Amino acid sequence: MSLFGGKKESYKDKKSLVIYFSRADENYSVGYITKGNTEVIAEYIRDITGADLFKIEGVEGYSADYNTCIGAPVYWGIMPQEMITQLEKLDFTGKTVRVFTTHEGSGLGSIPSQVKKVCKGANVLEDSIAIRGGSVNSAKGKIENWV
Ligand SMILES: Cc1cc2nc3c(=O)[nH]c(=O)nc-3n(C[C@H](O)[C@H](O)[C@H](O)COP(=O)(O)O)c2cc1C
Repeated sequence: MSLFGGKKESYKDKKSLVIYFSRADENYSVGYITKGNTEVIAEYIRDITGADLFKIEGVEGYSADYNTCIGAPVYWGIMPQEMITQLEKLDFTGKTVRVFTTHEGSGLGSIPSQVKKVCKGANVLEDSIAIRGGSVNSAKGKIENWV
């Protein structure tokens, strides 16, 4: 899940930043991966818009094994705790935020409303997009249309 600011028309004048969390290793639908699904989407947005990337990393990281990882009571329909901890520290006053998620069935979950609560001062747009994690490699067109 991640965020970035700015609209297509204004990319040339405004600086955009993709803030995201993404986990490699064993994945729900695509086996072991060296790059997380959300990172694939974040890089599409960078390639299309020239935005900078800001990857949030946990202090301890998750287990490579999916079942062990699922033992952590985070993610389920909401943002990983790493995202929340980082976003709460930032001041979004005057910033426009657009939300995208990768998922395996929950879609956006409650992430857009969570972002509104956590990102202090942000103008969160209502056009969030959800991409299925197992199909990120064919999702560049969708992202191009969205941004
Ligand atoms: C601990 C954990 C919990 C998850 N919970 C959900 C969930 O509630 N709903 C859902 O649609 N997908 C869930 N997923 C699947 C991920 O959202 C999906 O694989 C996503 O693309 C992972 O992004 P990443 O590879 O960038 O980390 C979960 C994955 C993990 C590891």
